[in-house]
Amino acid sequence: MPGLLGRRATPRRYLMCSPAHFKVTYSINPWMDPAKPVDVPLAVAQWEDLRDRYRSLGHTVEELVPRAGLPDMVYAANGATVVDGRVLGARFAYAEREAEAEAHLDWFRAHDYDEIHEPLHINEGEGDFAVTASYVLAGRGFRASPLSHGEAQEFFGRPVIGLDLVDPRYYHLDTALAVLDDAADEVMYYPGAFSPGSRAVLERLFPDALIATEADAAALGLNAVSDGLNVLLPQAAWGLLDPLRERGFTPVAMDLSELLKGGGSVKCCTQELRP
Ligand code: ARG
Repeated sequence: MPGLLGRRATPRRYLMCSPAHFKVTYSINPWMDPAKPVDVPLAVAQWEDLRDRYRSLGHTVEELVPRAGLPDMVYAANGATVVDGRVLGARFAYAEREAEAEAHLDWFRAHDYDEIHEPLHINEGEGDFAVTASYVLAGRGFRASPLSHGEAQEFFGRPVIGLDLVDPRYYHLDTALAVLDDAADEVMYYPGAFSPGSRAVLERLFPDALIATEADAAALGLNAVSDGLNVLLPQAAWGLLDPLRERGFTPVAMDLSELLKGGGSVKCCTQELRP
């Protein structure tokens, strides 16, 4: 059903991984505090809520089997980037997550993907790659190597726009920017996460972007997933609800408080399998 202003959801296919083995035992971003206990049953319930919400919106959710000893595997967005059915594998920046890349590749091989590229350069999947109609936006500064941008451009044959992240709280692009309409070039972002030059690039490419406040960014409100109409985002980012509605979107507020303890939310838990 089209929403206000002609917004329309298109059916999506997502890959997710249960937080059955989720823990915070190391700290590789400022959100992670190993001294803070994690409630695993609550994490699983919140994650199932997100998965079931996608399904009730008509989307397909595939599940990757979580592996013990890989506590961050729940952040499935980081395991690969899929555009036009072509799979760019991940290569993680930290040893603690290295083995996740192979788990994702195994899944793609078992699901008949035949165009799979194992990367030479560090990239953490959709953590740092965001796909709009015209571009692949690519973060760098904390995780992805700038060299991974050229590698992605060559593999996908789409223009890759490098963006410099400067605030450690927003260590991945998907903590600072979300694609709202991927049939157009519509995004929302938090300017404070980017260098002055990258901010100027974003203003030039996306003059009509929804600009998030610091408070909504700090609630990880930009770690959102849109199907073109419904925008699933962390509920604490309530300041984004009205601006999204004014644009004709239907915000869907989710509680992923346990997953926030690892530095992720809705988008981090969701890898999109673009046909
Ligand atoms: N603890 C994980 C890390 O620091 C969180 C990853 C979040 N994922 C994301 N797509 N931003 O690597």
